[in-house]
Amino acid sequence: VADPNAVVAADAARSASTAGGADDALFLRACRREPVERTPIWIMRQAGRYLPEYRTLRDKYDFLTSCRTPELACEITLQPVRRLGVDAAILFSDILVPLPAMGIGVEFTPGPQLERTIRSAADVAVLRVPDPHESTPYVLDAIRLLRRELPQSVPLIGFAGAPFTMATYLVEGRGTKQFSEIKRLLFNDPITAHALLEKCADTVGRYLAAQVEAGAQAAMLFDTWASLLSPTDYREFAMPYVTRVFTAVARATATGGLAVPRIYYAGNAAGWLDACRAIDATVVGLDWRIDLDRARNDLGETLAVQGNLDPAVLLGPRLTITAHAAEVIRRGGTTGHIFNLGHGILPDTPPDHARLLVDAVAELSARATA
Ligand code: CP3
Repeated sequence: VADPNAVVAADAARSASTAGGADDALFLRACRREPVERTPIWIMRQAGRYLPEYRTLRDKYDFLTSCRTPELACEITLQPVRRLGVDAAILFSDILVPLPAMGIGVEFTPGPQLERTIRSAADVAVLRVPDPHESTPYVLDAIRLLRRELPQSVPLIGFAGAPFTMATYLVEGRGTKQFSEIKRLLFNDPITAHALLEKCADTVGRYLAAQVEAGAQAAMLFDTWASLLSPTDYREFAMPYVTRVFTAVARATATGGLAVPRIYYAGNAAGWLDACRAIDATVVGLDWRIDLDRARNDLGETLAVQGNLDPAVLLGPRLTITAHAAEVIRRGGTTGHIFNLGHGILPDTPPDHARLLVDAVAELSARATA
C-alpha cells in the first residue's frame, strides 16, 4: 500500500468530483486541510450526562446496555447533533467496550472497574484478539443505523482507545491517580509490556477498521494516558503501537474509497508532539496545556489540529466563553483546524453554554467567501 496520506489526498481529489456529497462535509474538508468557509466544531463527550435527554434514557437503561443496543446508541449519538448543531457525530460507546471479548469483564459505576487485572506474561498470554464482527456486532450495527439517520453534512466518527491507554486500564483495573502498576510493568518487565501492547494494538486495529468498513467516516484513537510518559518512554511504549493501528486501518480501508481521516487525541502532549509527525495520523487532538499555533510548529505542515478549549471555560459566563473561543480560533488558524474542547465536556456544564459555544465558533470563524 502506498503512503496512507497520499491515499487521503487521492480521496480528497475524488471527493471534488462528487461535490455536495458526504465527502464534502465541512469537518472532513478541515481534516484534509482543504479550504473551509468556517471552522467546524464538535465536542468530546458531546453525548452524556450534561444532557437532560441523556439522563432520561439512562434512568431506564444502564450504560453498557445503551452501548450494546444499536437503537439506543444511535439515539444517544443523535441527541447532541439535534440540540447543539455540531459538525460531526461521534458514535456513543466507550473505549473499554472491546475488553470483555478480550477476556476481561468490565463494569461502569460510572468509572470503569475491570473484573481482574493483567500483570504477568501468563495473564497476557490468555488475552484474546477478538474478531469485531463476532464480538461487537452491535457497534457495527449502530454505525450502519447512524449512517442512515445522519445528514450528509454531519460525518460519523468511529473510535477506540489507543493501545497504551487500553493497556493502562488492563493493568490498573480502574482509573487511578498514581498509575504505579502500569509503570511497574513498563520498567520491571518491558517484554511483557510490549506483548500486552501488541495484543491491544491488534485488537484495536481490527476493531477500528471494522468500524470504517461499517460506515464510520473518520477513525479516532483516544490516548488519554500517554500523558503519563516521558518523551523517551512515549517513543518506546505508545508511539509504535499507535502507528501500527493507524497503518492497519489505512491498509484495511485503502480500497473502495474508504480511506478516512485518522484522528489521534494526544491530551497533554507538549513533550512529544514532534513524534506525532510519524504516527500516520491525519489530525492530532490536543488539550489546553499548549497553544495551537505552537503545537502546529512542532507538528509540521501535513497534520491538522483539533481542540483545545479548556472544558471548564464552559462553566463561565457568555463573554468568557466567546473570548476564549476567539483565542483558540486565532491560534488554530484558518485551515486544518477542527474546534473542540481539550478534553470531555464536564457533567455539570449547562447545555445552553455548549450551544452558545457552537454558535460562537461558527460566527467568529466565518470567513468572507465573496
Ligand atoms: O464523546 C462521546 O460523546 C462518545 C462517547 C465516549 C464515552 N467515552 C462515553 C462515556 C467516548 C469517546 C469515551 C472515551 C473514553 N472513555 C475515554 C477517552 C477520553 C477521555 O475522556 O479521556 C476514557 C479514558 C474512557 C473511560 C471511561 N468511561 C471513564 C473514565 C468513564 C467514567 C468517567 C466519566 O467521564 O463518566 C467512562 C464512562 C462513560 N463513557 C460515560 C460516558 C457517557 C458515563 C457513563 C454514564 O452515563 O454513567
